[in-house]
Amino acid sequence: MNILVLHGPNLNLLGAREPEVYGKTTLAEIDAALIKQGRDRGAEVRCFQSNHEGALIDRIHEARGWAHGLIVNAGGLTHTSVALRDAIASVALPAIEVHLSNVFAREEFRHRSLISGVCVAVVSGFGASSYRLGLEGLLERLAR
Ligand code: DQA
Repeated sequence: MNILVLHGPNLNLLGAREPEVYGKTTLAEIDAALIKQGRDRGAEVRCFQSNHEGALIDRIHEARGWAHGLIVNAGGLTHTSVALRDAIASVALPAIEVHLSNVFAREEFRHRSLISGVCVAVVSGFGASSYRLGLEGLLERLAR
């Protein structure tokens, strides 16, 4: 099983960025934990972060033929990007939408996600553990 993990804008600053909202775990720590979690389950996990919408879309396209599923924390693009939504729909891979914070307990503009409708599940509010839980759920679904 091959899984692509995508992190959107500003997530490269995790650990330093608004730690009261997003926690103190760095992106490198999250990626290392996901790669290990995957390895323990016999899956290869590759991680990619970009602050650029087009770069994320390119990676989703490239995932065709390699990845069996996607974990996506699109950051602020979650609430704005039709193009990212279309990219996820285009590759027809099961995708899990992940957020560190509980977006529904925050500002109203974060309550709407343009990507939820093309994802199989959403995990929001468990901090860095949202990724772990999302990967667990995705691998379980793929094993069915
Ligand atoms: C986020 C929530 C988004 O609203 C925000 O723009 C982010 C991070 C999260 O992981 O909680 O950049 O996706």
